[in-house]
Amino acid sequence: HIFLNLFCTIYSLLSVQTEAPRIQPPKTTELSIYLGKTVAFHCLASGKPPAQISWILPDRTFVRDPGTIHTVLSPMSLLQNGTLRIHSANFSSKGDYKCIASNAAGADTVTYQLHVAALPPMKVKLGEAVKLSCQATGEPKPRITWISPHTDVIPPLSDKYRVVDDGTLILKKVTLADEGKYACVARNSAGDDIKNMIVEAELQEPYINSVRGKTSAKLLAVSYQTALLDCRVEGKPEPKVWWLTPYGHSLTPPYLGGRFQMDAGRYKCFAKNHLGEASLSVEMEVASLAEKPSFASPNIEILPIKQDGGELILECPARGTPIPEISWVLPNGTMLSPGRRLQRITHHFGNGTLWISQPTPSDKGIYRCLARNIAGQLLEALSQLTAPSPDQV
Ligand SMILES: *[C@@H]1O[C@H](CO)[C@@H](O)[C@H](O)[C@H]1NC(C)=O
Ligand SMILES: *[C@@H]1O[C@H](CO)[C@@H](O)[C@H](O)[C@H]1NC(C)=O
Ligand SMILES: *[C@@H]1O[C@H](CO)[C@@H](O)[C@H](O)[C@H]1NC(C)=O
Ligand SMILES: *[C@@H]1O[C@H](CO)[C@@H](O)[C@H](O)[C@H]1NC(C)=O
Repeated sequence: HIFLNLFCTIYSLLSVQTEAPRIQPPKTTELSIYLGKTVAFHCLASGKPPAQISWILPDRTFVRDPGTIHTVLSPMSLLQNGTLRIHSANFSSKGDYKCIASNAAGADTVTYQLHVAALPPMKVKLGEAVKLSCQATGEPKPRITWISPHTDVIPPLSDKYRVVDDGTLILKKVTLADEGKYACVARNSAGDDIKNMIVEAELQEPYINSVRGKTSAKLLAVSYQTALLDCRVEGKPEPKVWWLTPYGHSLTPPYLGGRFQMDAGRYKCFAKNHLGEASLSVEMEVASLAEKPSFASPNIEILPIKQDGGELILECPARGTPIPEISWVLPNGTMLSPGRRLQRITHHFGNGTLWISQPTPSDKGIYRCLARNIAGQLLEALSQLTAPSPDQV
Protein backbone atom coordinates (compact mmCIF):
# COMPACT_ATOMS: atom_id res chain seq x y z
CA HIS A 1 0.00 0.00 0.00
CA ILE A 2 2.74 2.32 1.07
CA PHE A 3 4.73 1.29 -1.99
CA LEU A 4 1.94 2.25 -4.35
CA ASN A 5 1.57 5.65 -2.74
CA LEU A 6 5.24 6.43 -3.15
CA PHE A 7 5.11 5.57 -6.87
CA CYS A 8 2.27 8.05 -7.38
CA THR A 9 4.29 10.81 -5.78
CA ILE A 10 7.30 10.24 -7.97
CA TYR A 11 5.14 10.13 -11.05
CA SER A 12 3.51 13.49 -10.27
CA LEU A 13 6.90 15.03 -9.56
CA LEU A 14 8.15 13.87 -12.95
CA SER A 15 5.17 15.19 -14.85
CA VAL A 16 5.68 18.65 -13.37
CA GLN A 17 9.39 18.83 -14.25
CA THR A 18 9.38 17.59 -17.85
CA GLU A 19 8.46 19.52 -20.91
CA ALA A 20 8.52 18.44 -24.53
CA PRO A 21 11.10 20.27 -26.74
CA ARG A 22 10.04 23.22 -28.78
CA ILE A 23 12.31 24.55 -31.52
CA GLN A 24 12.49 28.31 -31.86
CA PRO A 25 10.79 28.87 -35.24
CA PRO A 26 13.34 30.17 -37.78
CA LYS A 27 12.55 33.29 -39.80
CA THR A 28 12.76 31.29 -42.97
CA THR A 29 13.26 27.65 -43.76
CA GLU A 30 14.16 28.16 -47.39
CA LEU A 31 17.67 29.42 -48.20
CA SER A 32 19.53 30.07 -51.44
CA ILE A 33 23.27 30.53 -51.51
CA TYR A 34 25.99 30.75 -54.12
CA LEU A 35 28.50 27.99 -54.75
CA GLY A 36 31.37 27.98 -52.28
CA LYS A 37 29.55 30.08 -49.68
CA THR A 38 28.97 29.20 -46.04
CA VAL A 39 25.56 28.81 -44.47
CA ALA A 40 24.39 27.98 -40.91
CA PHE A 41 21.11 26.36 -39.89
CA HIS A 42 20.14 27.08 -36.31
CA CYS A 43 18.17 24.72 -34.11
CA LEU A 44 17.62 26.23 -30.69
CA ALA A 45 15.18 24.21 -28.64
CA SER A 46 13.62 24.57 -25.22
CA GLY A 47 12.55 21.53 -23.19
CA LYS A 48 13.00 19.71 -19.92
CA PRO A 49 15.26 17.89 -19.68
CA PRO A 50 17.29 19.77 -22.35
CA ALA A 51 16.57 18.47 -25.77
CA GLN A 52 19.06 16.37 -27.66
CA ILE A 53 19.68 17.85 -31.13
CA SER A 54 20.25 15.70 -34.14
CA TRP A 55 20.12 16.32 -37.87
CA ILE A 56 19.13 14.33 -40.93
CA LEU A 57 21.08 15.48 -43.98
CA PRO A 58 19.87 15.43 -47.64
CA ASP A 59 21.72 12.13 -48.17
CA ARG A 60 19.82 10.67 -45.15
CA THR A 61 22.90 10.66 -42.92
CA PHE A 62 21.91 10.95 -39.30
CA VAL A 63 24.18 13.23 -37.27
CA ARG A 64 24.16 13.57 -33.51
CA ASP A 65 27.68 14.21 -32.28
CA PRO A 66 29.10 17.73 -32.49
CA GLY A 67 32.18 18.01 -34.70
CA THR A 68 33.16 17.81 -38.33
CA ILE A 69 30.96 15.70 -40.54
CA HIS A 70 32.35 13.75 -43.46
CA THR A 71 29.82 12.70 -46.06
CA VAL A 72 29.51 12.84 -49.84
CA LEU A 73 28.17 16.35 -49.31
CA SER A 74 30.44 19.35 -48.99
CA PRO A 75 32.24 19.70 -45.61
CA MET A 76 30.08 20.75 -42.64
CA SER A 77 30.09 20.68 -38.87
CA LEU A 78 27.63 20.38 -36.00
CA LEU A 79 28.24 22.95 -33.26
CA GLN A 80 27.62 22.44 -29.50
CA ASN A 81 24.55 24.68 -29.59
CA GLY A 82 22.91 22.55 -32.30
CA THR A 83 23.72 24.83 -35.23
CA LEU A 84 24.69 22.99 -38.40
CA ARG A 85 27.24 24.86 -40.49
CA ILE A 86 27.98 24.09 -44.15
CA HIS A 87 31.41 25.43 -44.97
CA SER A 88 31.64 25.58 -48.72
CA ALA A 89 28.43 24.66 -50.44
CA ASN A 90 28.52 22.80 -53.73
CA PHE A 91 25.71 21.38 -55.82
CA SER A 92 25.62 18.21 -53.68
CA SER A 93 24.76 20.38 -50.69
CA LYS A 94 21.27 21.21 -51.88
CA GLY A 95 18.23 19.51 -50.36
CA ASP A 96 16.44 19.14 -47.05
CA TYR A 97 18.13 19.45 -43.66
CA LYS A 98 15.93 18.26 -40.82
CA CYS A 99 16.64 19.11 -37.20
CA ILE A 100 15.14 16.88 -34.50
CA ALA A 101 15.03 18.09 -30.90
CA SER A 102 14.03 15.33 -28.55
CA ASN A 103 13.83 14.45 -24.85
CA ALA A 104 11.91 11.99 -22.71
CA ALA A 105 8.77 14.05 -23.02
CA GLY A 106 8.66 14.29 -26.77
CA ALA A 107 10.23 15.77 -29.91
CA ASP A 108 9.98 18.71 -32.30
CA THR A 109 11.39 19.06 -35.80
CA VAL A 110 12.15 21.77 -38.31
CA THR A 111 13.20 21.25 -41.93
CA TYR A 112 15.33 23.65 -43.92
CA GLN A 113 15.51 23.61 -47.68
CA LEU A 114 18.82 24.65 -49.25
CA HIS A 115 19.24 25.80 -52.86
CA VAL A 116 22.70 26.27 -54.32
CA ALA A 117 23.22 28.61 -57.24
CA ALA A 118 26.24 29.10 -59.46
CA LEU A 119 28.15 32.32 -58.92
CA PRO A 120 26.37 35.30 -60.48
CA PRO A 121 28.09 36.24 -63.72
CA MET A 122 30.27 39.32 -63.71
CA LYS A 123 28.59 41.90 -65.92
CA VAL A 124 30.93 43.91 -68.12
CA LYS A 125 30.56 46.58 -70.80
CA LEU A 126 31.65 45.78 -74.34
CA GLY A 127 34.76 47.67 -75.39
CA GLU A 128 35.83 48.40 -71.82
CA ALA A 129 38.63 46.96 -69.73
CA VAL A 130 37.78 44.40 -67.05
CA LYS A 131 39.72 43.26 -64.00
CA LEU A 132 39.26 39.77 -62.58
CA SER A 133 40.95 39.40 -59.24
CA CYS A 134 42.22 36.18 -57.79
CA GLN A 135 43.70 36.34 -54.33
CA ALA A 136 45.44 33.23 -53.18
CA THR A 137 47.33 32.67 -49.96
CA GLY A 138 49.60 29.80 -49.14
CA GLU A 139 53.11 28.79 -48.23
CA PRO A 140 55.11 28.82 -50.48
CA LYS A 141 53.33 31.69 -52.24
CA PRO A 142 51.13 30.16 -54.95
CA ARG A 143 51.62 30.93 -58.61
CA ILE A 144 48.51 32.13 -60.42
CA THR A 145 47.54 30.84 -63.85
CA TRP A 146 44.44 31.91 -65.74
CA ILE A 147 42.50 29.75 -68.16
CA SER A 148 40.30 31.41 -70.78
CA PRO A 149 36.79 30.27 -71.74
CA HIS A 150 38.40 28.54 -74.70
CA THR A 151 40.49 26.53 -72.19
CA ASP A 152 43.76 28.07 -73.21
CA VAL A 153 46.31 29.18 -70.66
CA ILE A 154 46.44 32.99 -70.80
CA PRO A 155 49.98 34.37 -71.33
CA PRO A 156 51.05 37.11 -68.88
CA LEU A 157 51.06 39.74 -71.63
CA SER A 158 49.37 39.76 -75.01
CA ASP A 159 47.25 42.03 -77.17
CA LYS A 160 44.10 41.01 -75.31
CA TYR A 161 45.27 40.29 -71.78
CA ARG A 162 47.58 41.33 -69.02
CA VAL A 163 48.19 39.42 -65.81
CA VAL A 164 49.36 41.71 -63.02
CA ASP A 165 51.86 40.60 -60.34
CA ASP A 166 49.17 40.12 -57.69
CA GLY A 167 47.40 37.66 -60.02
CA THR A 168 44.71 40.05 -61.31
CA LEU A 169 43.71 39.36 -64.90
CA ILE A 170 42.94 42.37 -67.10
CA LEU A 171 40.92 41.98 -70.27
CA LYS A 172 41.98 45.07 -72.16
CA LYS A 173 38.90 45.47 -74.34
CA VAL A 174 35.93 43.18 -73.91
CA THR A 175 34.29 41.69 -76.99
CA LEU A 176 31.47 39.16 -77.25
CA ALA A 177 34.07 36.45 -77.83
CA ASP A 178 35.44 37.08 -74.33
CA GLU A 179 32.27 35.92 -72.61
CA GLY A 180 32.43 32.69 -70.66
CA LYS A 181 34.07 30.96 -67.75
CA TYR A 182 37.53 32.06 -66.57
CA ALA A 183 39.40 29.81 -64.18
CA CYS A 184 42.04 31.09 -61.81
CA VAL A 185 44.40 28.30 -60.73
CA ALA A 186 46.59 28.91 -57.69
CA ARG A 187 49.36 26.36 -57.36
CA ASN A 188 52.26 25.73 -55.03
CA SER A 189 54.22 22.63 -54.05
CA ALA A 190 51.46 21.69 -51.61
CA GLY A 191 48.70 21.53 -54.18
CA ASP A 192 46.32 23.69 -56.15
CA ASP A 193 43.01 25.47 -55.91
CA ILE A 194 40.68 26.70 -58.63
CA LYS A 195 38.24 29.60 -58.67
CA ASN A 196 35.84 30.00 -61.57
CA MET A 197 34.35 33.27 -62.72
CA ILE A 198 31.75 33.86 -65.38
CA VAL A 199 32.07 36.98 -67.49
CA GLU A 200 29.00 38.18 -69.32
CA ALA A 201 28.67 41.31 -71.47
CA GLU A 202 25.86 43.74 -70.80
CA LEU A 203 23.30 44.23 -73.50
CA GLN A 204 24.33 47.01 -75.84
CA GLU A 205 23.01 48.72 -78.95
CA PRO A 206 25.34 48.37 -81.96
CA TYR A 207 28.50 50.46 -82.21
CA ILE A 208 30.44 50.82 -85.47
CA ASN A 209 34.18 51.46 -85.12
CA SER A 210 33.48 52.22 -81.44
CA VAL A 211 30.89 54.91 -82.20
CA ARG A 212 27.14 54.61 -81.85
CA GLY A 213 24.50 56.19 -84.07
CA LYS A 214 25.21 57.60 -87.51
CA THR A 215 28.73 58.43 -88.64
CA SER A 216 30.34 59.30 -91.93
CA ALA A 217 33.80 59.13 -93.43
CA LYS A 218 35.65 59.87 -96.66
CA LEU A 219 37.98 57.57 -98.52
CA LEU A 220 40.19 58.08 -101.55
CA ALA A 221 40.78 54.84 -103.36
CA VAL A 222 42.84 54.02 -106.38
CA SER A 223 41.33 51.94 -109.12
CA TYR A 224 42.80 48.47 -109.55
CA GLN A 225 43.98 48.56 -105.95
CA THR A 226 42.22 47.15 -102.93
CA ALA A 227 40.19 49.53 -100.82
CA LEU A 228 39.31 48.54 -97.27
CA LEU A 229 36.19 50.02 -95.78
CA ASP A 230 36.30 49.29 -92.07
CA CYS A 231 33.08 48.45 -90.29
CA ARG A 232 33.95 46.89 -86.94
CA VAL A 233 30.73 46.16 -85.13
CA GLU A 234 30.10 45.63 -81.44
CA GLY A 235 26.84 45.00 -79.68
CA LYS A 236 24.83 42.47 -77.75
CA PRO A 237 22.95 40.55 -78.89
CA GLU A 238 25.33 40.23 -81.82
CA PRO A 239 24.14 42.76 -84.42
CA LYS A 240 23.20 41.88 -87.96
CA VAL A 241 25.61 43.65 -90.30
CA TRP A 242 25.28 44.55 -93.97
CA TRP A 243 26.70 46.91 -96.58
CA LEU A 244 24.80 48.85 -99.17
CA THR A 245 26.69 49.81 -102.35
CA PRO A 246 26.01 53.01 -104.36
CA TYR A 247 23.80 50.90 -106.63
CA GLY A 248 21.71 49.57 -103.79
CA HIS A 249 23.24 46.08 -103.70
CA SER A 250 23.14 44.66 -100.23
CA LEU A 251 26.11 42.60 -99.06
CA THR A 252 26.04 40.60 -95.86
CA PRO A 253 29.16 39.20 -94.23
CA PRO A 254 30.92 36.98 -94.83
CA TYR A 255 30.88 38.34 -98.37
CA LEU A 256 33.28 36.16 -100.24
CA GLY A 257 32.20 37.20 -103.69
CA GLY A 258 35.66 38.60 -104.19
CA ARG A 259 36.30 41.65 -106.27
CA PHE A 260 33.72 43.88 -107.70
CA GLN A 261 34.25 46.98 -109.72
CA MET A 262 34.88 49.87 -107.38
CA ASP A 263 33.02 52.99 -108.14
CA ALA A 264 32.93 56.31 -106.48
CA GLY A 265 29.85 56.93 -104.37
CA ARG A 266 28.32 56.35 -101.01
CA TYR A 267 28.84 52.98 -99.33
CA LYS A 268 26.89 52.39 -96.16
CA CYS A 269 27.44 49.84 -93.41
CA PHE A 270 24.56 49.05 -91.09
CA ALA A 271 24.50 47.20 -87.80
CA LYS A 272 21.27 46.38 -86.06
CA ASN A 273 20.01 44.48 -83.04
CA HIS A 274 16.79 44.79 -81.06
CA LEU A 275 18.27 47.63 -79.00
CA GLY A 276 19.08 49.93 -81.89
CA GLU A 277 20.87 50.60 -85.12
CA ALA A 278 24.15 52.23 -86.13
CA SER A 279 25.33 53.19 -89.58
CA LEU A 280 28.49 54.36 -91.24
CA SER A 281 28.38 56.20 -94.52
CA VAL A 282 31.61 56.19 -96.50
CA GLU A 283 31.94 58.64 -99.37
CA MET A 284 34.43 57.02 -101.67
CA GLU A 285 36.36 58.82 -104.38
CA VAL A 286 38.25 56.76 -106.87
CA ALA A 287 41.42 58.12 -108.37
CA SER A 288 40.96 56.85 -111.88
CA LEU A 289 43.91 54.90 -113.19
CA ALA A 290 46.64 56.18 -110.94
CA GLU A 291 49.87 56.87 -112.75
CA LYS A 292 53.32 56.96 -111.25
CA PRO A 293 55.11 60.29 -111.51
CA SER A 294 57.28 60.83 -114.55
CA PHE A 295 59.26 63.80 -115.84
CA ALA A 296 58.59 65.46 -119.11
CA SER A 297 62.29 66.33 -119.64
CA PRO A 298 64.42 63.75 -117.86
CA ASN A 299 67.72 65.16 -119.17
CA ILE A 300 69.82 67.06 -116.69
CA GLU A 301 69.87 70.76 -117.48
CA ILE A 302 73.19 72.53 -116.96
CA LEU A 303 72.85 76.13 -115.89
CA PRO A 304 75.74 78.53 -115.31
CA ILE A 305 75.43 80.74 -112.26
CA LYS A 306 75.03 84.37 -113.26
CA GLN A 307 75.90 86.79 -110.52
CA ASP A 308 73.74 89.58 -111.81
CA GLY A 309 71.65 89.97 -108.69
CA GLY A 310 68.72 88.31 -110.43
CA GLU A 311 66.99 84.99 -109.85
CA LEU A 312 67.62 81.46 -111.00
CA ILE A 313 64.50 79.41 -111.54
CA LEU A 314 64.63 75.60 -111.57
CA GLU A 315 61.59 73.72 -112.85
CA CYS A 316 60.32 70.27 -112.02
CA PRO A 317 57.91 69.28 -114.78
CA ALA A 318 56.50 66.15 -113.11
CA ARG A 319 53.40 64.40 -114.40
CA GLY A 320 51.23 61.73 -112.82
CA THR A 321 47.74 60.95 -111.56
CA PRO A 322 46.88 62.18 -109.00
CA ILE A 323 49.16 65.21 -109.58
CA PRO A 324 52.42 64.43 -107.76
CA GLU A 325 53.65 66.34 -104.78
CA ILE A 326 57.08 67.86 -105.39
CA SER A 327 60.05 68.22 -103.06
CA TRP A 328 63.47 69.58 -103.96
CA VAL A 329 66.67 68.03 -102.70
CA LEU A 330 69.49 70.58 -102.48
CA PRO A 331 73.13 69.67 -103.32
CA ASN A 332 73.90 69.12 -99.63
CA GLY A 333 70.96 66.70 -99.24
CA THR A 334 68.53 69.10 -97.53
CA MET A 335 64.95 68.49 -98.61
CA LEU A 336 62.69 71.45 -99.33
CA SER A 337 58.96 70.67 -99.36
CA PRO A 338 56.39 72.93 -101.10
CA GLY A 339 56.08 76.42 -99.64
CA ARG A 340 59.34 76.15 -97.67
CA ARG A 341 62.14 78.64 -97.85
CA LEU A 342 65.78 78.39 -96.79
CA GLN A 343 67.62 81.71 -96.84
CA ARG A 344 67.77 82.71 -100.54
CA ILE A 345 66.14 79.50 -101.78
CA THR A 346 62.34 79.21 -102.03
CA HIS A 347 60.23 76.28 -103.18
CA HIS A 348 57.08 77.85 -104.57
CA PHE A 349 53.89 76.25 -103.46
CA GLY A 350 51.71 74.86 -106.23
CA ASN A 351 53.88 74.66 -109.34
CA GLY A 352 57.05 72.98 -108.14
CA THR A 353 59.51 75.72 -109.12
CA LEU A 354 62.59 76.42 -107.05
CA TRP A 355 63.79 80.01 -106.90
CA ILE A 356 67.32 80.98 -105.98
CA SER A 357 67.63 84.70 -105.50
CA GLN A 358 70.99 86.46 -105.89
CA PRO A 359 72.85 83.25 -106.74
CA THR A 360 76.48 82.89 -105.67
CA PRO A 361 79.15 80.32 -106.66
CA SER A 362 78.45 78.48 -103.42
CA ASP A 363 75.06 77.45 -104.88
CA LYS A 364 76.69 75.15 -107.40
CA GLY A 365 75.86 71.49 -107.45
CA ILE A 366 73.15 69.06 -108.47
CA TYR A 367 69.52 69.86 -107.61
CA ARG A 368 67.22 66.86 -107.55
CA CYS A 369 63.46 66.83 -107.73
CA LEU A 370 61.37 64.24 -105.87
CA ALA A 371 57.85 63.66 -107.20
CA ARG A 372 55.42 61.34 -105.45
CA ASN A 373 51.78 60.34 -105.49
CA ILE A 374 49.64 57.43 -104.32
CA ALA A 375 51.05 55.23 -107.10
CA GLY A 376 54.74 55.78 -106.45
CA GLN A 377 57.64 58.18 -106.31
CA LEU A 378 60.54 59.23 -108.48
CA LEU A 379 63.73 61.16 -107.72
CA GLU A 380 65.54 62.76 -110.62
CA ALA A 381 68.57 64.98 -110.95
CA LEU A 382 67.18 67.78 -113.05
CA SER A 383 69.51 70.72 -112.80
CA GLN A 384 73.19 71.23 -112.36
CA LEU A 385 74.41 74.68 -111.49
CA THR A 386 77.96 75.32 -112.52
CA ALA A 387 80.37 77.95 -111.35
CA PRO A 388 80.28 81.12 -113.40
CA SER A 389 82.78 81.24 -116.28
CA PRO A 390 85.81 83.50 -115.65
CA ASP A 391 84.62 86.23 -118.02
CA GLN A 392 81.47 86.63 -115.94
CA VAL A 393 83.27 87.18 -112.64
C1 LIG B 1 25.83 28.59 -32.11
O1 LIG B 1 27.21 28.83 -32.01
C2 LIG B 1 27.81 29.46 -33.13
C3 LIG B 1 29.30 29.54 -32.90
O2 LIG B 1 29.60 29.92 -31.61
C4 LIG B 1 27.17 30.83 -33.33
O3 LIG B 1 27.74 31.46 -34.44
C5 LIG B 1 25.68 30.64 -33.56
O4 LIG B 1 25.05 31.90 -33.70
C6 LIG B 1 25.07 29.89 -32.39
N1 LIG B 1 23.66 29.59 -32.69
C7 LIG B 1 22.66 30.19 -32.08
C8 LIG B 1 21.29 29.79 -32.52
O5 LIG B 1 22.83 31.00 -31.20
C1 LIG C 1 30.85 18.47 -53.16
O1 LIG C 1 31.95 18.36 -52.24
C2 LIG C 1 32.19 17.03 -51.75
C3 LIG C 1 33.27 17.07 -50.71
O2 LIG C 1 34.32 17.93 -51.06
C4 LIG C 1 32.56 16.14 -52.94
O3 LIG C 1 32.77 14.80 -52.50
C5 LIG C 1 31.41 16.16 -53.95
O4 LIG C 1 31.77 15.41 -55.10
C6 LIG C 1 31.10 17.59 -54.37
N1 LIG C 1 29.93 17.60 -55.23
C7 LIG C 1 29.89 18.26 -56.39
C8 LIG C 1 28.62 18.20 -57.19
O5 LIG C 1 30.85 18.90 -56.79
C1 LIG D 1 72.25 73.12 -97.21
O1 LIG D 1 72.24 74.18 -98.13
C2 LIG D 1 71.31 75.24 -97.88
C3 LIG D 1 71.39 76.23 -99.03
O2 LIG D 1 72.70 76.62 -99.29
C4 LIG D 1 71.62 75.87 -96.51
O3 LIG D 1 70.71 76.91 -96.24
C5 LIG D 1 71.57 74.82 -95.47
O4 LIG D 1 71.91 75.36 -94.20
C6 LIG D 1 72.48 73.66 -95.82
N1 LIG D 1 72.26 72.59 -94.84
C7 LIG D 1 73.23 71.87 -94.30
C8 LIG D 1 72.82 70.83 -93.35
O5 LIG D 1 74.41 72.08 -94.59
C1 LIG E 1 55.13 79.43 -109.98
O1 LIG E 1 54.55 80.15 -108.89
C2 LIG E 1 55.13 81.42 -108.62
C3 LIG E 1 54.48 81.98 -107.36
O2 LIG E 1 53.11 81.76 -107.36
C4 LIG E 1 54.95 82.32 -109.84
O3 LIG E 1 55.54 83.55 -109.58
C5 LIG E 1 55.61 81.64 -111.05
O4 LIG E 1 55.40 82.39 -112.19
C6 LIG E 1 55.07 80.25 -111.27
N1 LIG E 1 55.83 79.59 -112.29
C7 LIG E 1 55.30 78.86 -113.27
C8 LIG E 1 56.23 78.21 -114.21
O5 LIG E 1 54.09 78.71 -113.35
